[in-house]
Amino acid sequence: MKRILLIVGGGIAAYKAAELIRLCRKAGIGVKCVLTEGGQHFVTPMTLAALSENQVYTTLWDLKDETEMGHIQLSREADLVVVAPATADLLAKMAAGIASDLATTLLLATDKPVLAAPAMNVRMWQHAATRRNVATLRGDGVTVLEPDEGPMACGEYGPGRMPEPPAILAAIQAALDSGSSASKRLTGKHILVTAGPTHEPIDPVRYIANRSSGRQGFAIAEALARLGARVTLVSGPVTLATPAGVTRIDIETAREMAEAVEAALPADAAVMVAAVADWRADTALQKIKKGDAPPSLQLSENPDILAQLAHGPRRPKLVVGFAAETERVIEHATAKRTRKGADWIVANDVSGDVMGGEANSIHLVTADGVEHWERLPKSEVARRLAERIADAL
Ligand code: C5P
Repeated sequence: MKRILLIVGGGIAAYKAAELIRLCRKAGIGVKCVLTEGGQHFVTPMTLAALSENQVYTTLWDLKDETEMGHIQLSREADLVVVAPATADLLAKMAAGIASDLATTLLLATDKPVLAAPAMNVRMWQHAATRRNVATLRGDGVTVLEPDEGPMACGEYGPGRMPEPPAILAAIQAALDSGSSASKRLTGKHILVTAGPTHEPIDPVRYIANRSSGRQGFAIAEALARLGARVTLVSGPVTLATPAGVTRIDIETAREMAEAVEAALPADAAVMVAAVADWRADTALQKIKKGDAPPSLQLSENPDILAQLAHGPRRPKLVVGFAAETERVIEHATAKRTRKGADWIVANDVSGDVMGGEANSIHLVTADGVEHWERLPKSEVARRLAERIADAL
């Protein structure tokens, strides 16, 4: 059984740590908790002990005998140290190497990977000192998750909320997986992923685009790379960082994407997540001036990259397409699977806040039928899909 040491800091988000413990236990991960002095103002050791079914540690100074010797030992027997919530104070101490209480002493003494889920007021998160500390920690190899954005307990709005427990669990599982070579199931495989929107120019300053953020595609590229695959990510214009270990090729238009995909072959699998513009406009060489009447756009159809690949001579063994629909999702996706020649279609209902959002609720359409997945963070959809791809290859 994999084990984590969970350090619960002093913030209102500490209540979510209780749910995180429950989810970890359900996923078969053992949990031991350290509760900081501040944390004890928000949750009790009893709550965490009951949920983790383990003793909870709160201070450096309660050693009863030699066998407890080291609390330091606590951080050594776990496979991963998780800090949730990671307050501004804890992050600052971690970055500076301060060991002033049990939690910070363990964090300085550990030889295991560390994952931190920040939670704090938006101004504290955006403060130059915290920005510096997070950059330092990431440079030291600590995984610092991005906080969620939204209304905060303090009444303000912005980034700073602790990610929801299912998202933290997904990050924990990913961190635990990345340690073992048995989990590198896609070593030696080349997988092509397309992501993001395409931009189709109308004139030198205007373009046709869509709401795709690229998040789901980037998460899939990351999950595949974590399983050891060599990943080529062909991306439209997005504002996301390239996942570790992924080769990224940036393009703007559908035709550029088609060329980049062709150039990246051969591949063992292709996962086409990009929201490719269906049409492009005849591009004016000069900026179109405002005249009496609005100009009419002459549209022509873009190449269907997925269909070309799936029906082409260099077809990867596994071709996965996506289908973003706002109605009759399964029906459209099932028809699309056949029409495009894909092995699987990942169908999602984008009538809500899926495009650009953090979570996704998908249906996997294969030759065997349709699987309905519960609503999950995009990172968890990616992790599960990557595992399925590894099964199929
Ligand atoms: O036809 P539709 O756009 O709904 O199909 C979606 C699927 O096809 C996605 O996997 C998308 O990446 C892919 N696609 C493509 N090239 C296009 C249009 C869609 O690869 N021109």
